Amino acid sequence: MRTYLVTGGAGFIGSNYIHYMFRKYGDSIRIINVDVLTYAGNLENLKDVENLPNYTFIRADICDKEAISKIFAENDIDRVVHFAAESHVDRSIRNPEVFVQTNVMGTAVMLNCAKTAWEKEDGTFKEDKKFLHVSTDEVYGSLPDDDSAFFYETTPYSPHSPYSASKASSDMLVRSYMDTYHFPANITNCSNNYGPYQFPEKLIPLMINNALQGKSLPVYGDGRNVRDWLYVEDHAKAIDMVQEKGRLFETYNIGGHNEKRNIEIIEIILETLQEMLPDSDPRKAHINRDLITYVQDRKGHDRRYAIAPDKIKAEIGWEPETMFKEGIKKTIAWYCEHEDWMKNVTSGDYQKYYSEMYQS
Ligand code: NAD
Ligand code: TYD
Repeated sequence: MRTYLVTGGAGFIGSNYIHYMFRKYGDSIRIINVDVLTYAGNLENLKDVENLPNYTFIRADICDKEAISKIFAENDIDRVVHFAAESHVDRSIRNPEVFVQTNVMGTAVMLNCAKTAWEKEDGTFKEDKKFLHVSTDEVYGSLPDDDSAFFYETTPYSPHSPYSASKASSDMLVRSYMDTYHFPANITNCSNNYGPYQFPEKLIPLMINNALQGKSLPVYGDGRNVRDWLYVEDHAKAIDMVQEKGRLFETYNIGGHNEKRNIEIIEIILETLQEMLPDSDPRKAHINRDLITYVQDRKGHDRRYAIAPDKIKAEIGWEPETMFKEGIKKTIAWYCEHEDWMKNVTSGDYQKYYSEMYQS
């Protein structure tokens, strides 16, 4: 039975990936989820898999060399899928250091422990061991606003935020392991994800949650920044396909071919909520465009991200499957039906974060 070590599996993409993998492979794989449970990690996301005999949760910090090497020593790990990271740009602007610690140092620990466990005496690696480093398109910087350019795997790195700089650094570390040791790895750089279980600090769940509560919808700058949105399950599938069919040592860009300006996204959310909620739902009464509030722009705000997913399509046959219209409906329906999930994640520290972040 193949054993996967998933880091950050209690977060947004990690938990969706674990669900996807169990749906696809059932009891023919084993998954060990290693997560330290920061504010963004939530075991409620994994309630329906927590009792599976082939699923194990270990609470550990990826920066903790001893804990991670113990996991490798005690388990014959075949695949690492490395999601664990600090992931929010706004937080990185306010507190960059933890991003360097987790994203750079944590990745260094993961790489070193995997290398130690998988390396043979002659310096080659045991058969069929693979490490996949999950990264972001934000490492490539910002594109002009005119729809003409895209990010390719060959696009030079030009990160602007402390978040993207830390991810770029971790990508470079992975590259260095591949180049120096022939370490069996892949890197994937993905565009913005959306879907169930996303923490409401990111654009889409924050706007859905605020609209449902009749709170203002804070739009940074002129609201015309562009992001390329991908349904999270399509991302999970792409990661699996890269490990199954991709060429080792390669980088693959994963994108939705679905560019939208932030203000368009907010308008779609408002329209969809209006359509979806019955007139009898008290939350419907206050949902309207008057909630939209332009606020001070994010510092160093990247203008446009857009991925050309040509390589992954040509080599692996992956394409985004979920049209935005369909994906956003599923997402909004999920948040409307999971008020308790939202209440739980927004109690406590979230209130403090929100008032500090949006006070101006
Ligand atoms: P998330 O913030 O929802 O989850 C991160 C998870 O990592 C949490 O469960 C958290 O507890 C865990 N974690 C953080 N620090 C840790 C540590 N030191 N040790 C162990 N666990 C730790 O993030 P996400 O949106 O699911 O992103 C997952 C990965 O995908 C990240 O590497 C991110 O850079 C990348 N990515 C995200 C997006 C996106 O749109 N969300 C797009 C492209 C790439
Ligand atoms: P976000 O979800 O934080 O993802 P990223 O910055 O990693 O792309 O933000 C997506 C876009 O939405 C980005 O251009 C910033 C903007 N945004 C707002 O306008 N208001 C908000 O409250 C948030 C969180 C984001």
